Amino acid sequence: MCGIIAYTGQRQCKELLFQGLRKLEYRGYDSAGLSVLSNGHIELVRAVGNLDSLEKELEGDGCTGAHAGLGHTRWATHGRPSTANAHPHLDCTGKISIVLNGIIENYQDLREKLTAEGHKFTSETDAEVVSHLVEKHYDGDLVEATRLSIGEISGHYAFCVIHSGHPDLIVGARKECPLLIGVGEGENFIASAIPAFLSETRDVMVIGDDEMVVMTPDGVQILDLDKQPLDREITRVSWNADAAEKGGYETFMRKEIYEQPDSLTDTLAGRLPAGGGIVLEELAIPDKELAKIDKVYIVACGTSYHAGLVGRYVLENWARVAVELDVASEFRYRDPVLSPTTLVVGISQSGETADTLAAMRQARSQGARVLAITNIMGSQATRDADGILYTRAGLEIGVAATKTHVAQIAAIQLLALYLAQIRQTMDPKEISEVAAELKSIPDLMRNYLKNEASAYEIAKRYYQQPFFLYLGRGVGLPVCLEGALKLKEISYIPTEAYAAGEMKHGPIALLDKGSPVVVVANDGHVYEKVVSNIEEVRARRASVIAVATEGNERIKSLSDDVMYIPRTSEMLSPLLSVVPLQLLAYYIAQLKGCNVDQPRNLAKTVTVE
Ligand code: G6P
Repeated sequence: MCGIIAYTGQRQCKELLFQGLRKLEYRGYDSAGLSVLSNGHIELVRAVGNLDSLEKELEGDGCTGAHAGLGHTRWATHGRPSTANAHPHLDCTGKISIVLNGIIENYQDLREKLTAEGHKFTSETDAEVVSHLVEKHYDGDLVEATRLSIGEISGHYAFCVIHSGHPDLIVGARKECPLLIGVGEGENFIASAIPAFLSETRDVMVIGDDEMVVMTPDGVQILDLDKQPLDREITRVSWNADAAEKGGYETFMRKEIYEQPDSLTDTLAGRLPAGGGIVLEELAIPDKELAKIDKVYIVACGTSYHAGLVGRYVLENWARVAVELDVASEFRYRDPVLSPTTLVVGISQSGETADTLAAMRQARSQGARVLAITNIMGSQATRDADGILYTRAGLEIGVAATKTHVAQIAAIQLLALYLAQIRQTMDPKEISEVAAELKSIPDLMRNYLKNEASAYEIAKRYYQQPFFLYLGRGVGLPVCLEGALKLKEISYIPTEAYAAGEMKHGPIALLDKGSPVVVVANDGHVYEKVVSNIEEVRARRASVIAVATEGNERIKSLSDDVMYIPRTSEMLSPLLSVVPLQLLAYYIAQLKGCNVDQPRNLAKTVTVE
């Protein structure tokens, strides 16, 4: 939610900041801007809309020649998208500028006080109070002014500040929102995420909660809020900068859909050794404790929640453990019953989703063991958990999650097998059989993607429909929920996803002649039940688009269209059956002319509640 970048060094910062923002655009694209330190004053350029608008504003001399500055791409929380509400913000004197990600919860009080003291606000944002606070506290020392300002604000935030009197100094701070340092030679970066500076440096330092960073071209110092210096290691990341490029694909989402077999291979690598058994090294929670677990509680948001739903089926089926599941925004405000024998699994691609982090922290404070399933090394979730299971899907830029979702499903399947191994709810031979099948999925998926031809044809037939219903049972249900979410996110077509057996209790009323109904109807123990639901749909003359198992000829006579996926055992089928639904959503959105990588109003990482 909002992307921040800051640079100080020998090079001209305009292009570095702008290119950094390009890599952060997935975090929001309601507006964008730069503020740079230029010959003793601050130059500010902002534009509404995505970075293409800012690029136009920057054409010519704007911000040229400066060697330090800030950049921001916004996902609006307080105040509609407008130039005045775009970051960076200035103070009254125009000498101080800030960029902020997060929410200043007490901004109304602060704004009233500051206004009474004579400060003039020019935006409706919560963030602007920070620039005025720094102005109020500034007495020649920007670090101290920032520190005093932090003492007055509450909420969760990451921000950077510059002052025209300090031509190469950047001061930053964070609390519960991401902020990292890219360490270069004679230059340094701060950003919300590593890709923003990955093409310039791979050396990264993490800033912790309630810490400040003081950065010049020659050095970086991390301080606590008493200004005591803190030691921090530099980590060299192995990511490839090319991962953030489209690599010949027309969109990131398409590229990421086609990267799924490789991502899956990486998720499984080393965890299913040839000698048998499941190895999960970073899990860090002792087997002795895992053996005593009597309940798994999964918390997540969005697409990650749908992976959690698949987790419920596999954990129950394989590990024979009771599973509860909730969206993190509900869990955190309920009074969940947890104990030291509850394993809470927080699933978060980014490891930064505010609600998921809060749910994990709450679980930990109630004595539960907490495991994070995440894609991002060093993310906040990894620091708030007792153990970690990395999905290793590689960098995902498309706002609509695809490859990270499939990797999350595989990760939770690995966890379920691991618990089954410890709890001895499956014998080693059975575990080896599932493991061998799991290892074969990337190749099945690769072949499927190479030969897939039906999704585009089906999309062409249905893309003008005003509504899609998705139906499934068992592990097919989370797949439907995910397929429906993908379609609504990127094409803006209203969708509903329902347990097929519940259709008669409501959604059937929505069906009419030709209404598209996507049914996940893979072979498995509920297949015949799904077929009965297909018959009910057909009786209303709606159109059935089935996802079915290769070799099932009968489904052709029951459906208008079929998307076949390779045959697998039932519990592994979501890894494959979600792929045609991603493609269907993708092609429909493309045919409607939508920007699939930047769906309106969405952001990839939701660091506010
Ligand atoms: C946003 C994104 C989704 C994502 C969800 C949870 O809504 O647009 O793609 O599934 O947040 O994010 P997380 O990083 O916690 O998995």
